[in-house]
Amino acid sequence: MLNLSIREALVADGSTSLAFTREVEEGTAPVWEKIRSRVTPMEWRLHAPLVDEIDRLKRQKNAVVLAHNYMAPEIFHGVGDFTGDSLGLAREAARSEAAIIVQAGVHFMAETSKILCPDKTVLIPDPRAGCSLAASITGADVRLIRERHAGVPVVTYVNTSAAVKAESDICCTSANAVEVVERMAREFGVDRVILLPDEYLARNVARQTAVRILSWRGRCEVHEKFTAQDIAEIREAWPGAEILAHPECPTEVLAAADFAGSTAAMSDYVARRKPRQVVLITECSMADNVACDAPETQFVRPCNLCPHMQRITLANIRDALLLGRFEITVDPATAARARVAVQRMIDLPPPARPARYDLVRARHHVDVELL
Ligand code: 13P
Ligand code: SF4
Repeated sequence: MLNLSIREALVADGSTSLAFTREVEEGTAPVWEKIRSRVTPMEWRLHAPLVDEIDRLKRQKNAVVLAHNYMAPEIFHGVGDFTGDSLGLAREAARSEAAIIVQAGVHFMAETSKILCPDKTVLIPDPRAGCSLAASITGADVRLIRERHAGVPVVTYVNTSAAVKAESDICCTSANAVEVVERMAREFGVDRVILLPDEYLARNVARQTAVRILSWRGRCEVHEKFTAQDIAEIREAWPGAEILAHPECPTEVLAAADFAGSTAAMSDYVARRKPRQVVLITECSMADNVACDAPETQFVRPCNLCPHMQRITLANIRDALLLGRFEITVDPATAARARVAVQRMIDLPPPARPARYDLVRARHHVDVELL
């Protein structure tokens, strides 16, 4: 299949013509009902045939789509078999019995799936979907840090390459970072932990724990843009809105917010508390996805787009399934070492609820040391 053009592959595969037929309309009606508040009828006429086609290809090829919370609603609600934050998707990858995993997310997420499922085919619809955090550090950097800080446990955020994970003691996501840091300090019998590579996540974790944190100057190019001034302006313009922020934001943004947690924790907050008005200080698509399930909440939209997440579209998910591209490969020796770090995280008891960052405790400020 790999050498075929998309047109040839469509013909060879007996794929449909991607017209918005009555059959397509009826088959995709439940998805349309769900997302119609966020997608126009004109857009839906283009999306629906692709949703229908992807559904057929998934069944034909025994494939599943793992869709991150930052995917556009037509992907998240339309073709995601499993949806959630990076921790939830890693858990689903480990559990999946499908032959093919299509990662509707960025490259490090697909690599994590491959690390956990070496025998499965893992596809990413656009291999250029990177991450500024993953690009900020290499395996060689971590080896050097380890040499200089022997005996200090290394915790790496999942937003890193397989080579970086391979040099780590354990991985974490924003949903479990405080728990993982404290656990590693206890296990190693030390008072400090290296938490790589997100400077802001490290600072926000440091405010939640007595463990001293050493970190790196990595930043998320989306969340670093938010400022305390943005929050002040939002409060002035929408005094009743509850403000939820992702822990990759600068510390002063979290300090000014009402709640902080991973993407799953933010979703959970809206589902349980049903705020009248809410602002999600994170990637834009997240609000659309949560809004589809929360018709009683008004979403104010000051948000930033992640250019990497936005590379994933229904069309390239369909092409990934049709052409078996772009396959993720990880050197087996690197994958084996990285698996130890990821699996240790997966093996932690799943949180009853995605962890929130306690903004009251966070007033006890402890600074981090940047390596
Ligand atoms: P979550 O772990 O909260 O899903 O976040 C991943 C991510 O890339 C945030 O920018
Ligand atoms: Fe990476 Fe930030 Fe995009 Fe998440 S939002 S994938 S951390 S650049």
